[in-house]
Amino acid sequence: MADSIVNKKSVCIITGATKGLGKAITSNLAKELPKGSLFILLARSQDLLDRISSQVKENDGIESVSMPFDQSCADGETNKKMLQDALAKAGVAVSQYEQAILINNAGTLDHLDYSRNLDRLDVSTEYFKTNLSGCITLTATFLQVFRAPDVKTRVVVNISSLAAISPMKSWLLYCMAKAAREMMMKIVAAEEENTRTLNYAPGPLVTEMTTTASDKTQDPELRKWFTEQIEKKSLVECDDSAQKLIAILRKNTFENALHIDYYDEI
Ligand SMILES: NC(=O)c1ccc[n+]([C@@H]2O[C@H](COP(=O)([O-])OP(=O)(O)OC[C@H]3O[C@@H](n4cnc5c(N)ncnc54)[C@H](OP(=O)(O)O)[C@@H]3O)[C@@H](O)[C@H]2O)c1
Repeated sequence: MADSIVNKKSVCIITGATKGLGKAITSNLAKELPKGSLFILLARSQDLLDRISSQVKENDGIESVSMPFDQSCADGETNKKMLQDALAKAGVAVSQYEQAILINNAGTLDHLDYSRNLDRLDVSTEYFKTNLSGCITLTATFLQVFRAPDVKTRVVVNISSLAAISPMKSWLLYCMAKAAREMMMKIVAAEEENTRTLNYAPGPLVTEMTTTASDKTQDPELRKWFTEQIEKKSLVECDDSAQKLIAILRKNTFENALHIDYYDEI
């Protein structure tokens, strides 16, 4: 039986930890990881980050630092300084941790009016900066900063979507970014040693993103589907989806870079 990922003393970086799924992953994972683990929580809203960071410390006794991070302009040098500053703020060294985890959760559904805008280079460029390039540079920096012999194992979780593997009309940019992020996980799995990678599709969630989908999706069928799920209250709660992700990590038998959906049996 494989060693559980959640039993190891870890430094765990979570992007988009202020709201929705990222917040739920943070609070649920804090109850699983051993004491002595460290969270580095990233997003743009410093107040919300500080709040979740304090909750994790008070409720679960896990050390946590919050760092302002804008994925749309995250280059390698800035990321490296940010991670080093976070470790310095916590007063720790990389070598104190058995394992480093990166959860690439931050994402947006901007530009849903793409049918009017897709011929504009700035629209797709801005979208991919936030949802793809920023994710690539953070992952690259993570793999540089947390490496053997200091850290024995690395885990990179890409929060994906059904949209990565199934085309959704009028969501071209979102689908493309999610598909590309899944390929990134496959490449990382092929290139890097001692690294576990996972593409987790969290299901249709009760979050602000889903409200945006129901308000702004251009394709009438897809928009109606979201509106109906909200009305029927049949969306997945973020805590349930976070728990499913933790169950997958606990079991730790997934093939590297596999796409696993919330609804899949594990
Ligand atoms: N909602 C769904 O039904 C659903 C379904 C499948 C997959 N997903 C995926 O799950 C992930 C989380 O979605 P969610 O529904 O929880 O979204 P959400 O409620 O809108 O939260 C998005 C998070 O990303 C952060 N974020 C946004 N832009 C950012 C930027 N430029 N730099 C850094 N952080 C940024 C936000 O924090 P700040 O605003 O503070 O920066 C926030 O914490 C996304 O990758 C999404 O694609 C969602």
